[in-house]
Formats: sequence, structure tokens, C-alpha cells
Amino acid sequence: MATDRASSSDAVGDPPWLEPLLADPAEGGPLSLDAAGAHAGERLSARRVDGVLRFVESDSYAQSFGREWNWFAQTQLDRPDENRTESRQTFAEKTGLEPADLAGKTVLDVGCGMGRFSEVVLSAGANVVGVDLSAAVDAAHGNLGDRPNAAFIQADVFDLPLREESFDLIYSIGVLHHTPDTREAFLRLPRLLKPGGRIVIWVYTSERPVGYVASDLYRRFTSRMDEERLLRLCKAAGPIGALYRTRAGRVLSPLLPVSHHPDPEWRVLDTFDWYAPRYQWKHDWAEVERWFRTAGLEEIRRHRVPVAVSGRRPLDSPVAD
Ligand SMILES: C[S@@+](CC[C@H](N)C(=O)[O-])C[C@H]1O[C@@H](n2cnc3c(N)ncnc32)[C@H](O)[C@@H]1O
Repeated sequence: MATDRASSSDAVGDPPWLEPLLADPAEGGPLSLDAAGAHAGERLSARRVDGVLRFVESDSYAQSFGREWNWFAQTQLDRPDENRTESRQTFAEKTGLEPADLAGKTVLDVGCGMGRFSEVVLSAGANVVGVDLSAAVDAAHGNLGDRPNAAFIQADVFDLPLREESFDLIYSIGVLHHTPDTREAFLRLPRLLKPGGRIVIWVYTSERPVGYVASDLYRRFTSRMDEERLLRLCKAAGPIGALYRTRAGRVLSPLLPVSHHPDPEWRVLDTFDWYAPRYQWKHDWAEVERWFRTAGLEEIRRHRVPVAVSGRRPLDSPVAD
């Protein structure tokens, strides 16, 4: 099992296309970095640590994710040469986007984690800014920071150091429901789209309430546990998840929900990912579509996995605050 912190890439500095995309929300305009890659602004200050620009002092409530993605820095990373393509398939199902839609685009990955979906979009030929509140960004930087079309920064979706109207595409997969307020986090994003740009999010569905009864109860304890202790418990998901993959075992799974993924390491990761986070909201289609309408987005579409929704910023109208 991958339990070491991901090593940072040696690359120092950011690709030249990143700086024009940065802005201090209080000042507007470009955000200038000094030679050491630091910025002291009215609202945001930045410093570079281990090759990554950081606009927050700590992981805050997202610490468990920082641990998780550095422990499991490569478990979900595709290796098409080894026929590992699950992240590509999941990205297509949750966004409705194919590689041809991505080439040459400027893309924001909100809550990039260790970069499993950034890798898909980078490989399709887009420039990707991956943002994460937690030390997960170190895992992403270690995995992908040497690609000239990648830039990873540690920042909070509620206070992003990014210029308005900068991105052709914004996606956020499995992130916004882990913030204190999913809707408010979402509403920070459309203004960063260029006119005509698209945004797509996937958040947990509230439409499987039976399956959540037991885990909601256990989460009252597990989300407060020391992460290493919880990881030790989650290692039981290896054998238990294998049992649940049999017909007889499946009937037991509502009592002790753990991941059923075919890969045992992935099961441990997914189970930790379910039980550790402080916030874990669930939503339905109508609610999420309402947020898109509130933001003034058009061409609102549902994608294959509940609840994955996309919309487009109109070419000619401002985005509602
Ligand atoms: C379940 S992980 C998903 C990571 C990645 N999108 C994926 O699907 O592999 C959720 C991520 O959201 C990040 N996150 C949580 N709150 C955030 C915030 N306020 N701003 C930015 N990222 C945040 C966490 O640190 C974590 O890496």
C-alpha cells in the first residue's frame, strides 16, 4: 500500500501561462509574485513551499484529505499503457466531455486531490490549474508538476486567487459537498469562466437514503477520529469488500458499508474517503440545477452519474453574484 507522502517534483516556479490567470480578489488585476514566488496582498498572501504556491496557512477542515491523497498518491492514477483507464471513464461519465473537447483549453480543476482527473485533462492537451485546499496538492504536484501544461496551487474555493473570465472549462468532481456550504462554494466559480465557457460539477446524491443510514451514524465518530487510527480500521475494507462482492455477502453491506471496488487498495482508499471528511452533504438533481439557474448559466444538462450537472456561461450576460 502507498503510505508515503508523495515526493514533490523538482520543478521550481510556475509555467509562464499561470501568472496572468492569478489575481487577488480584493485588488482585481494580475497578482504579481516576487522572485521567490511570494505575494503580500490586501486579502491574500502567497508563499511558495516545496515548489507549490500556497494561498492558505493550513489544510483547515480538509486535513484528512491531505493525509489521504499523500498516502494513496497514485492508486487512482490512470496508466493507459497498463490498461488502467478508470479515471478516463469516470471523467467522461461525470462530465460528458471527451479528449477532443479539451485540447487547447484553459481548465480549472477545483479540488484536484492527487490529480487523477487533472491527468486525464492534461493528457488531452489542455492547460490545467489544479487547486486544492489541502496538502493533496503536494501529491498532485509530485505526480504531474513536471508537465509544462500543469500548475497546482493550494487555495480555498471560497477565496480563489484567480482572475474572472479566465477559464474555458471549470470542473469539480466530488469536492463541493465536502465544503461547509456546497451551494455557496459552487456560486464562487461561474464568474471565473470566460463568456461561453462551461462548468461541470459532480456532488453526492441524496437519492439513496437507505444506503446512508448506517454510514451516517458511523461517520459521527469516524469523522472525528485520528486519521491514522481510522486508516487502520479502513484496512478491513480489503477483505470485507471482497466478501460483499459475493451474492451472499452483499446482503450484509447496508449494515457496514465499505467500498466494493475490485482493487483492494482502492477499497481502503474509498472507505477512508467516505468515513473521514468533516463535511459530507448530499443533494438532488433539482436542487443542483437550481444553483446553475441562480448563477445565470444556460444549456444546463444532467450527466450519467447522479448528481453531475453542467452549464454554460452566456456569451453576452454577466454572471449573477
Ligand atoms: C474527495 S476529494 C476529490 C479529489 C478529486 N477531485 C478526485 O475526484 O480525485 C475532495 C477534495 O476537495 C478538497 N477540498 C475540500 N474543501 C475544499 C475547499 N474549500 N477548497 C478547495 N479544495 C477543497 C479536499 O482537500 C480534497 O482533496
